Amino acid sequence: QASTMWGGRFKSGPSAIMEKINASIGFDKRFYRQDIMGSKAHCTMLVRQGILSEDDGRAILDGLDQVLQEIEAGQFEFKAELEDIHMNVEARLAEIVGEPAGRLHTARSRNDQVATDFRLWTRDAIDLIDQGLEGLQRALVAQAEAHAETVMPGFTHLQAAQPITFGHHMMAYVEMVGRDRGRFSDCRTRLNESPLGAAALAGTSFPIDRHATAEMLGFDRPCANSLDAVSDRDFALEFLSAASICAVHLSRLAEELVIWTTAQFAFVRLSDGFSTGSSIMPQKRNPDAAELVRAKAGRVIGDLNSLLIVMKGLPLAYSKDMQDDKEPVFEAFDTLELCIAAMAGMISDLEVNTERCREAASAGFTTATDLADWLVRELNMPFRKAHHVTGSLVKMAEDKGCDLPDLSLEEMQSVEPGITEGAKAVLTVEASVRSRTSFGGTAPGNVRSAAHAARDVFLAD
Ligand code: ARG
Repeated sequence: QASTMWGGRFKSGPSAIMEKINASIGFDKRFYRQDIMGSKAHCTMLVRQGILSEDDGRAILDGLDQVLQEIEAGQFEFKAELEDIHMNVEARLAEIVGEPAGRLHTARSRNDQVATDFRLWTRDAIDLIDQGLEGLQRALVAQAEAHAETVMPGFTHLQAAQPITFGHHMMAYVEMVGRDRGRFSDCRTRLNESPLGAAALAGTSFPIDRHATAEMLGFDRPCANSLDAVSDRDFALEFLSAASICAVHLSRLAEELVIWTTAQFAFVRLSDGFSTGSSIMPQKRNPDAAELVRAKAGRVIGDLNSLLIVMKGLPLAYSKDMQDDKEPVFEAFDTLELCIAAMAGMISDLEVNTERCREAASAGFTTATDLADWLVRELNMPFRKAHHVTGSLVKMAEDKGCDLPDLSLEEMQSVEPGITEGAKAVLTVEASVRSRTSFGGTAPGNVRSAAHAARDVFLAD
């Protein structure tokens, strides 16, 4: 039996396999609310423009409300033979209101309908992600304030480089997450144009008002070009790009948690709520959530890649390939939302072992740069020479199996006679971080003011 949607042109209906490959209802039912919102705006506009009668318009609006309510009550039966959310909603509307339902599709196409639904959905998704990221920033800022003075090693090449404060490390992520939020917000600004009324691709001969529907749906304006309106998936790609970069940030932090929770580092302890045990080794507290955040970043990046690859060869305007644009975006959103929540939970519960962090910061000659800086400042030595002198002192300490502060003044003077007792004062890790007061540096005072500023810039109240 031929399909009711395009049955006029066909003798028989689709094969079962065709129906299966063609159906998107399994995933695009997530658009039900946006689809109904879009239809209501379109219907209201058609009535205002005199394209649809008041009575038909009223019947359609009431019918759409009923469909919405049925879906939300879980009483709606989604049917694969009706392909997608658009046809499922319209078919049910026809059952409820009869003939007027068939007039709703005047001056529109599923091409502009799906593009509209998808933009509306992505806009909401961005708002949810933004809330989640704000929560994560809140947790990071709180740890930064609690540990503005906690000294830990800063690393390069994962080797202890210079002492920093734990709070400074947390604030680095506050900055990254702030940029992530900026990227999502840029994406939101650019996507906020309405494709509705572009119809299939060329616009329509009906006297529609695209500005009115755009406004009803909270868009800033209608998309300027009907062909672009139905062909563009930049907004989804941009969402996925922002999501991928954000996931990479979460993954780096996750990796640090994995390293820091090892017995060898033991800088931090995850709460029981965010640790798992081993079925065989009773002593274990595994950072599974952090490892999964690290793994799931790969999926989000995969989602970006898969949509880039779907889009790259498509001529304008719509091709059915574009039906496959939704699953990567849904997966990326669900994955990212969960990872952000898990990371916020891990960070807010995090216990920092300040003793252990300090001890690690002191090992490995991490204040060697401070000594070189002292030579420059006090002896007016060129930095390159100071670097060389300090290197010799590090070698001496290494040979003796001690730390830089353990060298006696006489030993130090054997390398550089100008060195005085004052040089020894710069060798403690506390003095080192306290001295890093340059803008953006790790000094505890800087961390406190950065955390304070972040509350103003990033966190609501
Ligand atoms: N389910 C389709 C999609 O997700 C809706 C648009 C169908 N348009 C078409 N010309 N076949 O892309």
